[in-house]
Amino acid sequence: MNNLNEYNKKIKRVLITEEEIAEGVKLAGKRIDALYDGRPILLVSILKGAFVFMADVCRAVTIPCEVGFMCAKSYYSGTVSAGAVKITMDLEQDITNYHVVIIEDIIDTGRTLNDVVNLLRARNPISLEVITLLDKPSRRVVDFKADMALFTIPDHFVIGYGLDCGEYYRNLPYIAEYSEE
Ligand code: IMP
Ligand code: MG
Repeated sequence: MNNLNEYNKKIKRVLITEEEIAEGVKLAGKRIDALYDGRPILLVSILKGAFVFMADVCRAVTIPCEVGFMCAKSYYSGTVSAGAVKITMDLEQDITNYHVVIIEDIIDTGRTLNDVVNLLRARNPISLEVITLLDKPSRRVVDFKADMALFTIPDHFVIGYGLDCGEYYRNLPYIAEYSEE
């Protein structure tokens, strides 16, 4: 990326401001505090997209918690999920003694998270739930619902706050619509 003008032109409009994100993060922290007080919890995020949201959510949580990261890629033939999630980096923790809370950036077709959830459930955590910052329900291919979705958005490609386009824009502090032009 060598043309700053081109770079900025792709940021079409702000969809969710920093302030709105901060409000949502607070709600996620409150939910975790209320549900898991006195319990062993592991916040899990799937890299790279969720790293910013994870950093904020874990600091909105006031009870003791651990964090873990994994990297997952899903492979599909047509639209049929073969449970073909490939873990390119796995959690280092054994999750059997944890309440697992997946902290995700966005649920689009639902494929990645559906596979990851099935995989983690098979490892028998005490419980497992999913908190997502963004949800694009109109794009769903696999029937998947988060336990908490902070913002439901229309079918726009979005960037910022961890979300990328060609690896750029993850560092924007807000969520913006990407201009395809
Ligand atoms: P899914 O498996 O289709 O639900 O896709 C999940 C992944 O696709 C997310 O974790 C993102 O990395 C990526 N993704 C989906 N929609 C967007 C978007 O609007 N902007 C940036 N990345 C996206
Ligand atoms: Mg992601």
